[in-house]
Amino acid sequence: MHFCIYTCLIKLNERYMKNRTGAPVDGNDFFGREKEIAYVWDLLQNGNNILLPSPRRVGKSSFAKKMLEKAEGEGWEVIEINLERAHSELEFVELLTGELRKMSVWERSKESGIKLLEIISALKPTLSIGGAEVKLDWKKEKSNIYRELERILPHDREVLIFFDEVAVLLNGILLDSNGDKRQIEELMHWLRSLRQVSGSQIRWIFCSSVGIENFTTGHQLSKTINDFSYYELKPFSSEAATSMIIELEKGGNVTFNEEIRAQMLAKLGYLLPYFIQVLFEKMKGKIQIEDALIDQNLVNKAYNEIIEGAYLNTWDERLREQYGDHKDDAYLLLRHICRAKEGMKRENLHNLLYQKYSDADRTDSILATLLNMLQNDGYLAENNAHYLFRSPLIRDFWFNRFVK
Ligand SMILES: Nc1ncnc2c1ncn2[C@@H]1O[C@H](COP(=O)(O)OP(=O)(O)O)[C@@H](O)[C@H]1O
Ligand SMILES: [Mg+2]
Repeated sequence: MHFCIYTCLIKLNERYMKNRTGAPVDGNDFFGREKEIAYVWDLLQNGNNILLPSPRRVGKSSFAKKMLEKAEGEGWEVIEINLERAHSELEFVELLTGELRKMSVWERSKESGIKLLEIISALKPTLSIGGAEVKLDWKKEKSNIYRELERILPHDREVLIFFDEVAVLLNGILLDSNGDKRQIEELMHWLRSLRQVSGSQIRWIFCSSVGIENFTTGHQLSKTINDFSYYELKPFSSEAATSMIIELEKGGNVTFNEEIRAQMLAKLGYLLPYFIQVLFEKMKGKIQIEDALIDQNLVNKAYNEIIEGAYLNTWDERLREQYGDHKDDAYLLLRHICRAKEGMKRENLHNLLYQKYSDADRTDSILATLLNMLQNDGYLAENNAHYLFRSPLIRDFWFNRFVK
């Protein structure tokens, strides 16, 4: 009897959501989005492949993992590859082969499988040496590799394949080939052709925290992903965010009241689960370590620590890493936009850049590109003909770091 109560308590405890920030969450730590899951599952079942183009930290990877869980629950087989782990096309092929090898169908196409493994292992040692010779070897074998992969992919089975961080791999390959687009073009076309196999029961989810659309548009590759159904994940509604805070309270052994929760939402404005988690964790730390009182000051203090700390660094780093020639202009725009809560008009932004380029057409074109990129990547939103920071939290962080 005692034993039963004890295990029941443990079970109950296990069901509480843990506040896991940073890595994509899964299982019980994933909160909400029930309607979105049902909707996207329906899309998949109706034969669509899904591209999740939302800005970073919205929860794409976590959501895609949830879809894999759902698919597995329905008896599908699943494959998940984070393409950030692949630094070349060969490494991508190796990862994919490794995943296919774990599937029951591997036995059925074993001959192709063995051939594929042989080619990969013959290429690998030369790869570590590097240089032009390797690229030649790879070129020679490439069509064989893709042919064998095509033979192994089980189009007659219900399989959900999730590729995360697609643009990171594409960028890597592009850099490696000194900007020559052909290799990524061929890869993207090959992947598209797999999605076109008639009667295929394989479904695909592509995610990318580097705006995949920025990438494909920038390299005239949009048509290689035009068959996807786009599904844009949104931030949480106030109701969902409040329920999430309540769940976090249960898991974290703290209790806020309605007012505090409302203050948290008001402060964040843009309700990404990640921001909610970070704010919650800061507040919890202050209560449990610094014996802070649960009052209005608590939310403000926690918030201020976030905008002064390292939590949001990736918003700065990604821009620096991925905006190439556009970097300086992006910083210039954001430095000005973060000063204005309501945002800035396009013509004012135009004037800013014009001072640098003194050429109206050129300024127009650069501004259009940048505003598009910054919106796709979740920095900016457009409202009433004004461009403003999508999240007050990021805006305050930006102001703090680059203006104050
Ligand atoms: N539905 C969710 N429930 C709980 N936490 C979430 C959820 N979605 C996202 N998160 C949190 O936000 C963070 C970022 O989510 P992630 O899925 O990695 O976003 P993305 O892939 O869009 O960058 C995760 O580390 C996790 O802490
Ligand atoms: Mg992700």
